[in-house]
Amino acid sequence: MIAIACDHAGIDLKPTVISVLDELGIPYKDFGTHKRESCDYPIYAARAAKAVASGECDLGIVLCGTGAGIGMAANKVRGIRCVICSDTYTAKMSRLHNNANMLSLGSRVVGTELAKDIVRVWLMTSFEGERHARRVALIDKLDQGEELE
Ligand code: RB5
Repeated sequence: MIAIACDHAGIDLKPTVISVLDELGIPYKDFGTHKRESCDYPIYAARAAKAVASGECDLGIVLCGTGAGIGMAANKVRGIRCVICSDTYTAKMSRLHNNANMLSLGSRVVGTELAKDIVRVWLMTSFEGERHARRVALIDKLDQGEELE
């Protein structure tokens, strides 16, 4: 189950993301917004991020104008590793090496076809583990407010 959320600026890209999920047969839960009127992206970021952090959803995809604000907000929820991404290489590596559990895209930054490729590669790539698991565990330690070294 994929959590999806967006603000008014990200909403135009939502059908594109959903089309990829449908193509791959992956179910999703849409946490809004459902309207084009101006809204505050942290509210929607938090809804999707909490669903991922709690295990209700496996991964999350969030959308705003740049991907920056909604991605930053998602990363404030404990347990979230959200990659703000506008290229397929970063999308792939964020799963392979960083075990990103959320993806943030900017509807004013990436075009429809690039967004589809990013979502496809991000969803179809798995964490490599090994040495990267140690580093992700250190990120999680920071997330818990612990000191490193
Ligand atoms: C909304 O105008 C815009 O600021 C928002 O979608 C996002 O790009 C913020 O990071």
